[in-house]
Amino acid sequence: MTSQQTGPGTTAPLRSSAWFTDEGKNGFIARSHLAAVGVEGARLRRGPVVGICTSWSELTPCNKHLGGLAAAVRSGVEQADGVALEFPTMSIGEPFARPSSMLFRNLMAMDVEESLRSNPLDAVVLLGGCDKTVPAQLMGAASVDLPAILLTGGPMLSGRWRGDTVGSGTDVWRAVEAYRTGQLARNDLDELEGCLNRSIGHCMTMGTASTMACLTEAMGIQLPGSAALPAADGRRAQLATSVGRRIVEMARNGGPRPSEVLTRSAFLNAIRVNAAIGGSTNAVLHLLAIAGRLGVPLELDDFARAPADVPLLVDLEPSGRFLMEDFAYAGGLPAVLTELRGLLDLDARTVEGGRLADRCGVHRTEDPEVIRSLADQIQPAGCGTVVLRGTLAPDGALIKVSAASPQLLHHVGPALVFDRLEDYLDVVDDPDLPVTEDTVLVMRNAGPKGYPGMPEVANLPLPRRLLQEGTTDMVRVCDGRMSGTAFGTVVLHVAPEAAVGGPLALVRDGDPVKLDATAGILDLMVSDAELERRRASWRAPPPIADRGWLRLYIDHVLQADRGVDLDVLVGGSGHEVPRRPF
Ligand code: FES
Repeated sequence: MTSQQTGPGTTAPLRSSAWFTDEGKNGFIARSHLAAVGVEGARLRRGPVVGICTSWSELTPCNKHLGGLAAAVRSGVEQADGVALEFPTMSIGEPFARPSSMLFRNLMAMDVEESLRSNPLDAVVLLGGCDKTVPAQLMGAASVDLPAILLTGGPMLSGRWRGDTVGSGTDVWRAVEAYRTGQLARNDLDELEGCLNRSIGHCMTMGTASTMACLTEAMGIQLPGSAALPAADGRRAQLATSVGRRIVEMARNGGPRPSEVLTRSAFLNAIRVNAAIGGSTNAVLHLLAIAGRLGVPLELDDFARAPADVPLLVDLEPSGRFLMEDFAYAGGLPAVLTELRGLLDLDARTVEGGRLADRCGVHRTEDPEVIRSLADQIQPAGCGTVVLRGTLAPDGALIKVSAASPQLLHHVGPALVFDRLEDYLDVVDDPDLPVTEDTVLVMRNAGPKGYPGMPEVANLPLPRRLLQEGTTDMVRVCDGRMSGTAFGTVVLHVAPEAAVGGPLALVRDGDPVKLDATAGILDLMVSDAELERRRASWRAPPPIADRGWLRLYIDHVLQADRGVDLDVLVGGSGHEVPRRPF
C-alpha cells in the first residue's frame, strides 16, 4: 500500500513516493537499501528525489571532470532540501568509439530513457559534454519527460602552441595536411599534440559539442551562461549548484518538463542560433532526433527556411578565428541572444520557469570582434548550414557554407567515386590518381546503415599531389557526416544513402555532378533512362552484422533526414511509474 506524498512546498504528487511511501515489503526494501548508503527513510518519504545522470568516463576524456560537477549539483539539491542520487549511464568518447561514435548515440539514449523510467526519480539533471553524450541524454530524457535540466561540462581552455592559439579538430586537420606535404616535421606535430587539449572540458572550437551546448542553452533546457563558460572556470561549479537548487523546485512543481520547454518554437530558435554561431552540421541530426522523441513536427526544410534571415555573427573556428574561451569572455550565448532577439520567438519557455525574453538584453557583447552585431555581421544570411536537394539527393543533403570555399559553391565537375574509405586512403597519395581540382570526390556507403553509424569521413583528405600543387579545397560529396570542427566544400548527409539504393549508389566515375549552394541544388547530370539502367543492375550490399546492437541498429535506423534515430525509439515512453508484478 502506498500513501502518496507531496512533501513540504510540493505542489505536484511525487513520482518517487510510489517507491518510498509504500508501507509494505517493497517500500521497506527500497528505503532499507538506501539506508545502507546513508539516506534516511524519513528523508526519502518526504522527497523529492533528483537523479544526477552522469556520462562521466575515462573513455570520454571530455567528460572526465563531470564527477566534480555532480558533487556541486548534489550540494545544490541538498541546500534545497532534496535527495540526490547520482547514477552513470553509457558514455561515448568521440576520439575512441569505433567504428563510429554515432553508432552508439541511440544506444546511450536507450540507457538514459530506461534508467530514468525504471527508477524512483522525480526530476533529473543531465551531465554531458562530448559530442554524442548531450543529444543522447536529451533524447532519452525527452522520451520520459521528467522535469529536467541539462548542464554541459564546458569547453577546454584555448590550446596554445608557439605563441598561437590552436583549436580542437580544426587545427588538427590543418597540421596533419601540413605534415603530409612536408611543411611540418614529425617532432613539430608531436609537440602540437601535447599543447592542443590542455585542460578539462570538451572541444573548444564551434564543433558539435560547443554547438549542442549553445543550442540547448538557446532552447531553454540549460541555465543561462552554461554553454560557453570554460570547464576549468570555478564559476561552473557555482552554476552546477544553482542547477541543483532549481531542479528541486522543478521536481516539487512537476515542471517545466522537456515537452514544455523543447517546443517547436524552441527548435526553430535553435536553428536560427545555429546559423548565427556557425554551428555544426551534426546539430541537424540531433535536433531532428530530439524533436522526434517529443512528437514536435520538425523537418529538414525547417533548416532551410528558419535561418533564412540570420547572418553569421560569431567568429569562431572552424568558420572563423576565435575559440570558446574567447566566446565566453565576449558574453557567450546570452550576448548572442540579445543581438538576435528580434529574430527569435521570445515566448519560448525556459527551465527557470520564465520565457526566453527574460534572457535577452541582460548581457551584451564585451568583444565585438568575437560576437558581432547585426549591423556588423561576418557573413550575410544564407551562409550557414544550407539544405540541398536534387537528383543526387532527393531526400536532402547539407553543406556548411561558412566553412566552404566561395569559388566552389557553384561548381560542375566530374565524379571520382569510392565505395569504401579504405579504397580512397589507399590511393590518396598516389601521384597518378586521376584528379584535378575540378574533380568531385564522391565517397559512398558511409551512411547510417552503410558503414554503419554514419562516420565523420565526408571531409576526405585532399590528394597529396593536388595539395603540393597548391589546391586547398575540392568539392566532396558523401552520405556520411563531417566533424563539426572540420572545414571545406563538403556536401554531406546525402539521403537516401547509397546502401539503401539512393542515387548516390548509381554514380560512376566521370559523371558530371552539379552543386549550386545558393539555389540549394545537388544534381547528378545523367539521364533518367541511364539511371534506370544502372538501377536495374544495382544490388544491395550484404548485411554487415547478424547479431547484437549492430544488427538492431541496421534493421531500425532512420535516414539522415529523419535524424538517424531508430524507428522504434521515435516518440516517448512517458514517466508513469512502471507496474511491479507483486
Ligand atoms: Fe569530445 Fe570533441 S572529442 S567534444
